Amino acid sequence: MDRIRIRGGRDLRGSVRVSGSKNASLPIMAAVLLCDGPVVLRNIPDLKDIETMRGILRHLGVENHRERDGSLYLEVTDARADCAPYDLVRQMRASFVVLGALWARRGRAKVSYPGGCVLGHRPVDLHIKGLRSLGAVVHIEDGYVHAGGVVKGGSMFLGGNYGSTVLGTANVLMAAVLARGTTVIENAAMEPEVEDLCNFLNACGARITGIGGHCLVVEGVERLGGCEYSIIPDRIEAATYLAGALMTNSPITVEGARPAHMLAVLDRLQAAGAELEVGADYVRNVQRPDGRILAVDVTTLPYPGFPTDIQAQFMALMTRAEGVSIITEKVYPERFMHASELARLGANIRREGPSAIIQGTPRLSGAPVMASDLRASASLVLAGLVAEGRTDVRRVYHIDRGYERIEQKLQRLGADIERISEG
Ligand code: EPU
Repeated sequence: MDRIRIRGGRDLRGSVRVSGSKNASLPIMAAVLLCDGPVVLRNIPDLKDIETMRGILRHLGVENHRERDGSLYLEVTDARADCAPYDLVRQMRASFVVLGALWARRGRAKVSYPGGCVLGHRPVDLHIKGLRSLGAVVHIEDGYVHAGGVVKGGSMFLGGNYGSTVLGTANVLMAAVLARGTTVIENAAMEPEVEDLCNFLNACGARITGIGGHCLVVEGVERLGGCEYSIIPDRIEAATYLAGALMTNSPITVEGARPAHMLAVLDRLQAAGAELEVGADYVRNVQRPDGRILAVDVTTLPYPGFPTDIQAQFMALMTRAEGVSIITEKVYPERFMHASELARLGANIRREGPSAIIQGTPRLSGAPVMASDLRASASLVLAGLVAEGRTDVRRVYHIDRGYERIEQKLQRLGADIERISEG
């Protein structure tokens, strides 16, 4: 199992380029199940989760390969399979997003019910409620969600106690585009990744309006064709590098970012003292003479609120702030596994229900730490950049799921970071 070793305290500078968004790529790849023609996707990142989705799609009869220029070619060559088995789905929860497309295009679907997850309880009741509103006959048997019946379309309110659902909205959309009637999704997730899926589907011939808003209207069409499409940049990756830039008080430019997708994060970074230059497709952190980091409170919320996927990295930043900050998780109230690992580096963090209270400290010191999930591992890498001495982050396979070549990108900025393979 690989580790990432960091020797903290280096001065960083330069530019880092953001990769394509993982969370936009995954549902768009699944949407190819709906398409009658070939699809070429540009800006798909080279990540473990993308490989997992490619494997699932291959199993479902979607031939796919990387072209020489890095784009991903996908085409349905065999439309008989209707089952996404446990062994594939358990590797990645996001694979549940094939359900809506399989049902709509192949008339029936059988997808393994996703299991537990380190972020806490993650039910799929809203996915099922949404599909039922479109006419699906759904039952759960042998650990599988079975969907059948005619896709008629319908109206629904797609929200629960934690707000909207990103992949639930994606699943419903993918079925609705081929429905016999019109669908209205109230309280649709507004994340840029959902917007990207809508734009992709429309490029293939779907008729979705209200894109980017909380009410999506979908007029069903008979078929979708293929298209060429470029995935949006990864706002979470961009925000991770900006948090690192502020933490190390480094003049770093994050290139290829889309600041309009990151307003809540930019707001909190500025409140914490960052001086940012924001262009159309870049954000630059300006080095400041004092390099102070101020304690600020953050509450995670569905988009356009502060993203849960940057909570752990922001917590790493707040361990270095002057004063006390409170981070409240309103999307995954249990998503705090990183807090105890940050404490191993000397951070002072206390849990109070869905909140963490962080007393900033001027000094962290390196230690061996364990990554529990993707974003937790990014927060540990950031903390390692400022900790004195050596930090070894174990279980880095988590980070490979969602950060393209992170150690190389950080090396290029001047970090003392290496991957140690242990066979
Ligand atoms: N929820 C329900 N019922 C459902 C679905 C969701 O109660 O049927 C709850 C969840 O338990 C949670 C909230 O609703 O409390 C929001 O969950 P959502 O469904 O939006 O999450 P998701 O679609 O499964 C995606 C991202 C996650 C990201 C969340 C929230 C992908 C592949 N995953 O998950 O990304 O944290 O949205 O923004 O897009 C990550 O990249 O590290 C990651 C975990």
